[in-house]
Amino acid sequence: MSEAFATVDVISAKRDRNELSNAQIDWVVDAYTRGVVAEEQMSALAMAILLNGMNRREISRWTDAMIRSGERLDFSRLTRPTVDKHSTGGVGDKITLPLAPLVAACGAAVPQLSGRGLGHTGGTLDKLESIPGWRAALSNEEMFKVLADVGAVICAAGSGLAPADRRLYALRDVTATVEAIPLIASSIMSKKIAEGTGALVLDVKVGSGAFMKDLDKARELATTMVALGVDAGVRTRAVLTAMDQPLGRTAGNALEVRESLEVLAGGGPADVVELTLVLAREMLELAGLSGIDPADALADGRAMDVWRRMIAAQGGDPDATLPVARHNEVVRAEHAGVVTNVAAMPIGVAAWRLGAGRARKEEAVSAGAGVEILVGVGDVVQPGDPLLRLHADDETRFESALQEAIGAVSIGHASQVVVGPLVLDRIGS
Ligand code: URA
Repeated sequence: MSEAFATVDVISAKRDRNELSNAQIDWVVDAYTRGVVAEEQMSALAMAILLNGMNRREISRWTDAMIRSGERLDFSRLTRPTVDKHSTGGVGDKITLPLAPLVAACGAAVPQLSGRGLGHTGGTLDKLESIPGWRAALSNEEMFKVLADVGAVICAAGSGLAPADRRLYALRDVTATVEAIPLIASSIMSKKIAEGTGALVLDVKVGSGAFMKDLDKARELATTMVALGVDAGVRTRAVLTAMDQPLGRTAGNALEVRESLEVLAGGGPADVVELTLVLAREMLELAGLSGIDPADALADGRAMDVWRRMIAAQGGDPDATLPVARHNEVVRAEHAGVVTNVAAMPIGVAAWRLGAGRARKEEAVSAGAGVEILVGVGDVVQPGDPLLRLHADDETRFESALQEAIGAVSIGHASQVVVGPLVLDRIGS
C-alpha cells in the first residue's frame, strides 16, 4: 500500500520545532502500529517530541490516534456510575488496594486496569499476585462480570487496549524518552479513555520519589491530562500529592497487601488512610455520589466485604496466609536523635533490589521481599534501635539493598522536623 507520508518528513518536522498536522499524527501512530514506521524512527520522533514538545491539539490528536489503534470498552450496560483512579507511581503506593473496594462499597463501579512495577515503584498487579490463586488476566467478559457482580475489578489491561501505547511505552523505556509530558499524558489517558470509564481521578505524585520532581512540572502534566479527559467526555480531576516519603510503612508486594488489609479493617497508617479517603471523596463526587462518606464504609467493614468478594471473584483466597520472605535483616540507628526524614527513593530502590521489583520486564518478582519502615518522622531513637527491616528470599540481595537503605532514614534534631501536607494541589472542576 502506498503511504500518505514519508516517516523522515514527520521526524524532521518535529526536529525543526514545527507542529505536526492531524493527518501526520494519525498516519504516524497507525503506521507504527502496522510496523511501517521502524522502531529507530519512532525513537527519533519520541526524542524530538521530548525536546520540542507538542501543543494541546497535537497531544489530543496523538491520544486519539493511540485509542483508535485498538478497542474501546463499553460499560454503558452497568447500572452504577463508573469511576477510576490512576496514580503516576510512588514508593509504597498501595492506595488502589483499599480504594477500589471502598468506592465500590459506596455505590460506584470501579474498573481498575492496572500495571506491573518497573524500576523503583511497585505495580498493583504484582502486589495482588502475592495472594494465593489471584489472577490478573481476565477476558473483557470476565472483567465486566466481576464489575457487575462485585462493583470493583482490578486486572491487567488486555492487549487490545491502545496497542500503539504498549509498543511505544516499551520503546520510551529504553530510549530515555519516558519523561516527555506529551508522551506520558497521552500514554496514560489513551488507556483510561479506551477503558470506557465515565469519570477519572488522577493522583499525580510530586517529589524526590516520583517521576515528577517539581511542582510546576507535575502541574503541567496534571493540567494536560485533565484537558485530555474532559475533551474525551470523561469527567476528570487531578490531585497533586507529595512523594518525598514512602506512603505508609511498607514497600514490597505481600507487605503492602498486609498493610492495605489493616486499612480495610479500619486501622492502618494515617497517611494511607488520609489519601485513600481524599481520593475516594473525589471519585464519589465525580460519579455523582457526593452525599456518601467513605469513612463510614471503612469503619463498618463494608469496604472489607467488597475486597473479599473481589479477590475471590478473581480466583484468590482472601483468607490465605500471605507469603513471608525467608530472610530478614534489621537496619539500626547509629546514634541518638529524632527521625527527621524517611526518603522514598532509597526505600523504593532497596525494595526493588531485595526482589520486590524487576529490572527487566520478563523477570519474576518475590512476593515476600521488601522493606518495613519501623520508625516515623518525629520519633526519638537511641543507638541500636531498629529503623528498617529488610526482607528477601535470596540472602545475596541484602548487600546492595543495604547500601541504599542505610541512608534512607535521617536522624537529627527535633528542630529539623518538617511535616508538609500530603495533598499539594487539585486541578479540574
Ligand atoms: N504510566 C503510563 O501508563 N505511561 C507513562 O508514560 C507513564 C506512566
